[in-house]
Amino acid sequence: MMKIKDLVRRNIIDLSPYSSARDEFNSSNDFIYLDANESSYQSDLNRYPDNRHIQLTKLISSYKNIKTENLVLCNGTDELIDLVIRVFCKPAVDSIITLNPTYGMYNVSSKINDVENIKIQLDKNFQIDIDKVISGFNSKTKIIFITNPNNPTGNKFNKDDILKIIKSFKGIVFIDEAYVDYSNESFLNKIYSYNNLIISQTFSKAIGLAGIRLGVGYSNEEIIYYLKKVKSPYNINSLTEKKAIESLTKQYVDIDQVNETINERKSLELKLKELDFVSTVFPSNSNFLLIEVDDANKRYKQIIDHGIVVRNRSSVKGCENCLRITVGTPKQNKILINTLKKI
Ligand SMILES: Cc1ncc(COP(=O)(O)O)c(C=O)c1O
Repeated sequence: MMKIKDLVRRNIIDLSPYSSARDEFNSSNDFIYLDANESSYQSDLNRYPDNRHIQLTKLISSYKNIKTENLVLCNGTDELIDLVIRVFCKPAVDSIITLNPTYGMYNVSSKINDVENIKIQLDKNFQIDIDKVISGFNSKTKIIFITNPNNPTGNKFNKDDILKIIKSFKGIVFIDEAYVDYSNESFLNKIYSYNNLIISQTFSKAIGLAGIRLGVGYSNEEIIYYLKKVKSPYNINSLTEKKAIESLTKQYVDIDQVNETINERKSLELKLKELDFVSTVFPSNSNFLLIEVDDANKRYKQIIDHGIVVRNRSSVKGCENCLRITVGTPKQNKILINTLKKI
């Protein structure tokens, strides 16, 4: 077990967090609330949200079988990434590690916070080069970000490599599980075995609610305490909360939709492999496929000319001449394949 307090920035340990009116007085009784300078004229939204988000937190906790004190709600995973960097990394002193090519926000957030991003390249199969990672840590490295399954490559990493990192790294291991519902392999319950672990999941992918901006961080109580200390008081707005509760009251994810996406991905993979200008379709455990083509810039433009937008990733190191394609509905995928055949 690691001593988390030794990793947290001194100013965060000493910080007195903002105390809202509702933090100071909360009751289910019918009081006249004249304490928060909101408009007193009643509408659906004239009050600040209750930032404890009791009902939503309980719903997530019961679906995930994780105690309510082990999670924090955020304005998307993107807010959580920034919070974690701010809690643990001293600007201009500490560093983070990312396993590249990967999701771009770890780098952006580290830059904003003046924290060095040590980039360790994945191997040619987009797997973790474990020796390089282990020798890449130094005393200033506070966080390693592991995206599993990874974006933009789509694959999941070897489980033993991830476990090896969790066990050997003397800092925070952040596993971003944005695409976990398509991969069926989560490290979530490991937060009870390793206290240096933070898992993030999101409502933006399989749950289908990218528009409400809701991400969830899971970790031990101590880390959750520091993250809550730093987050802005009302980071989850009332409309987001309402929509998330409405959705979770029905189900966590629409499993038929997820299964359809996985089946469509498999069939797209086969059809893409038949195309002359596609040299590689990389294995995916996500809702997208990374493909290598003969000339990504040319193909990207041609596809746009046919009214379809994919992501050109060819400027990313390790993804030269690669396009990333989100798996669409069966109808969209049919149009995509017909278009690519025409091209
Ligand atoms: C790996 C990964 N993490 C996080 C995000 C963003 O998540 P959110 O919408 O919860 O901020 C994305 C979005 O593409 C992603 O690919």
